[in-house]
Amino acid sequence: MDKDKKLLWISPFVVFLGPQLAQMQLYSSTADLQKALRSEKSKRRSVGLVPTMGALHSGHLSLVKRSLYQNDITIVSIFVNPTQFNDKNDLAAYPRTLDKDLNLLSSERGEIWVYAPQADDIYSGDISSKKYDFKGLDRVMEGPNRPGHFEGVATIVERLLRIVRPHHAYFGEKDYQQLLIISRVAKQKRLGVKIIGCGIVREDSGLAMSSRNQRLNSAAISEATFIYQQLLWAKRRFTSMNLSKIKEAVTEAFNSNPSFELEYFEIAEAAALTAHSERKKNKKYRAFIAAKIDGVRLIDNLAMN
Ligand code: PAF
Repeated sequence: MDKDKKLLWISPFVVFLGPQLAQMQLYSSTADLQKALRSEKSKRRSVGLVPTMGALHSGHLSLVKRSLYQNDITIVSIFVNPTQFNDKNDLAAYPRTLDKDLNLLSSERGEIWVYAPQADDIYSGDISSKKYDFKGLDRVMEGPNRPGHFEGVATIVERLLRIVRPHHAYFGEKDYQQLLIISRVAKQKRLGVKIIGCGIVREDSGLAMSSRNQRLNSAAISEATFIYQQLLWAKRRFTSMNLSKIKEAVTEAFNSNPSFELEYFEIAEAAALTAHSERKKNKKYRAFIAAKIDGVRLIDNLAMN
């Protein structure tokens, strides 16, 4: 934490941070957070939740801004959730930058509470995933490529939603499949929250902002724009070319680019994520890519119509 930032400790778990634009509080204890929330909710103050794994960037800030606009208090959770990583090396390499994250959030205007728990606390000692029926939404794309991932995501997000009981919760469309799955879980479990999807924030080059971009060197960052270029190429061909042909051409473009290892390219119907070789009338479609560059797995997607 920055030395020049005044810290006022009022309990071992709650820190008020200042000076800054945002009114910020940091909670590491779930019990302390819930106690403070009970008091605010009794005053009928509305609460928005922005779940994150930290390493914040402008994409996260767009969710925070939206929540600040729509709610009295915005809770930003920062927790690298072990149960959603199917690859131990990926979990170990995930950037953890709490001090920087707090600094970034402090420049927003409004009331922000950062909730950064330890795994044992948030999981009440049982760090494992629950089972869910995602009604097929997990059978495509990220699902088969990252076994157990969505169970881990749903477990932690359900946990966060039950702890915070927010009025609104915000998720980025970069993880579009995750957004659909979370919306379904929130409905199935009647969690009483409105799930709000927010558009992808991109670098000027078109590269979708992601915490994982921090692991790329500058050459890889500029090469990674290839992913967005391929999505745009698919969009340009969407009405004139057969969907299987688009898929073949994009796959071929990745296979001929030695910097990339393509995991999948799909064009799927946007609500159910079912892949089609022919377009159906009155349906919305999105194209989805997952590819590795320099050992870093990136995903992106784009609305086709
Ligand atoms: O999208 C993410 O960063 C994570 O999957 C989430 C929703 C914070 C759950 O850990």
